Amino acid sequence: MKPAVTYELIKTCKQSGARLGKVHTPHGTFETPIFMPVGTLATVKTMSPEELKELGAEIILSNTYHLWLRPGHDIVKEAGGLHKFMNWDRPILTDSGGFQVFSLSDLREIKEEGVHFRNHLSGEKLFLSPEGAMEIQNALGSDIMMAFDECPPYPAEYDYMKASVERTSRWAERCLKGHARPEDQALFGIVQGGEYEELRKQSARDLVSLDFPGYAVGGLSVGEPKDVMNRVLDFTTPHLPENKPRYLMGVGSPDSLIDGAIRGIDMFDCVLPTRIARNGTCMTSEGRLVVRNAKYARDFRPIDEKCDCHVCRTYSRAYIRHLVKANETFGFRLTSYHNLYFLVNLMKQVRQAIMEDRLLDFRNEFFEMYGFNKP
Ligand code: GUN
Ligand code: ZN
Repeated sequence: MKPAVTYELIKTCKQSGARLGKVHTPHGTFETPIFMPVGTLATVKTMSPEELKELGAEIILSNTYHLWLRPGHDIVKEAGGLHKFMNWDRPILTDSGGFQVFSLSDLREIKEEGVHFRNHLSGEKLFLSPEGAMEIQNALGSDIMMAFDECPPYPAEYDYMKASVERTSRWAERCLKGHARPEDQALFGIVQGGEYEELRKQSARDLVSLDFPGYAVGGLSVGEPKDVMNRVLDFTTPHLPENKPRYLMGVGSPDSLIDGAIRGIDMFDCVLPTRIARNGTCMTSEGRLVVRNAKYARDFRPIDEKCDCHVCRTYSRAYIRHLVKANETFGFRLTSYHNLYFLVNLMKQVRQAIMEDRLLDFRNEFFEMYGFNKP
């Protein structure tokens, strides 16, 4: 059977090794490297699907764990699946719940059969297993589902990490067996192993032997320094097949998107742009701009003078500052829109730079402007 999701490598950047590609899904094709906005509860916070399309989002992410707890995957299924439920007809990727169980719930207990934990909303006792995560994602009907994994904290002892990686591999096999809709939903495996080269290699080898249509690198952006993340990617991506997409989970700072692409990553997601937006922080070509700041009270320039998004063409720093300070929802809509546009547009520039074999030059120019040091 032809997998529901396939990857087409268009070209490799001669200067950096980054990949320009296309991912074909049942809800359409997107170009990679790409940034995926996060819509945890079947909404990218404050944005309508129409606005997401206008700002250029091609695929969004949603969460098994949250939709399972509310409204319940049965209701989403009854609505005709997540695409219909939320009125988004482009591709959707759902995370498996593994990570959310570990980051949100307390009193969790990891067993071979799955994870026992308490609902972070009600305190009710719950259990999630590889089979359960597949059943929920099959009901949601996402184009790309993620395997149920354990994302251990950083740092973790080698012996713990080894046992965890081996369990995650066994869980991955159970996910494949439990997946009921391979004809129209793709299941990606998640490589774990923390900072240990040996374990990343083992994890990648285990998962590649199961022949997933795509692979994620998990367990990063969990508090490790930037150079550790880059080093882990350096020794992990070479073990992943060239003809499948690679997804770096939970990473969305502009510098990490560029550095990830240089290391052969095709897909990224993160709550960062929308989360900091709701706190009045904007990403700009010259670094972060905290629009709440008093110095913007009479600043009638756009958030980013180099940005051509709808918000920057229409509204001033002074106006957005006023809205954000007054806790007006519209202010958070404007900062969210701009930040998402900024990352979507950054990836467009990354793809163009790959096309022209100059991604390292682009990285240096961007880092210089954004206020990071050169490599
Ligand atoms: N989101 C960010 N990191 C991870 C991870 O390691 N596993 C899963 N399932 N989701 C993530
Ligand atoms: Zn803008």
